[in-house]
Amino acid sequence: MIGDIRTIVERACAAETNVFGYGIWTHHITKVAEHARRLAPLFGADPEIVEIAALLHDYASVKDEALYEDHHVHGPIEAGAILTKLGCPEDTIEAVRHAIAAHRASVDVERRSAEARCLANADALAHIENVTSLLHLAYARWGRGIDEGAAWVCAKLERSWGKLDPRVREIAREPYEAALMVLD
Ligand SMILES: [Fe+2]
Ligand SMILES: [Fe+2]
Repeated sequence: MIGDIRTIVERACAAETNVFGYGIWTHHITKVAEHARRLAPLFGADPEIVEIAALLHDYASVKDEALYEDHHVHGPIEAGAILTKLGCPEDTIEAVRHAIAAHRASVDVERRSAEARCLANADALAHIENVTSLLHLAYARWGRGIDEGAAWVCAKLERSWGKLDPRVREIAREPYEAALMVLD
């Protein structure tokens, strides 16, 4: 099951139509999946559910740029369709859908499960530990100016920090402070 999901998402990331580039697979999604599994015991979350949710959490944006703005709304629909096709149990699908709906720092969706809290933390931690990936997005993909790009990355990092659990902040503090020192 997880192998099939990895294949589907990696293929979507490699497609020409993915405006984020293949780097979103190598430098974001796979990192979020690793963090999610690693952090699962801390949150009392199901490791398989958080890994599936991590692999699919940004799938809508990768598939279609037009879905990026509301990818927390489209993501659960896309994930539901993929997982149903793969024969995934209904309760797992529901848990994955909720975690994806609640993963973003910029939208106010209550995180009602341990899996949702775990995914949100894994996503934020990946942003903080992979600042180069955000810089690539701002400068290389979107062609932003020096200050404009730095301001966007800074704001993204601050939002990510804001959604971290205090225990995860201890892991993230050093790279977070180092990144802000360079960007500010
Ligand atoms: Fe996202
Ligand atoms: Fe993400």
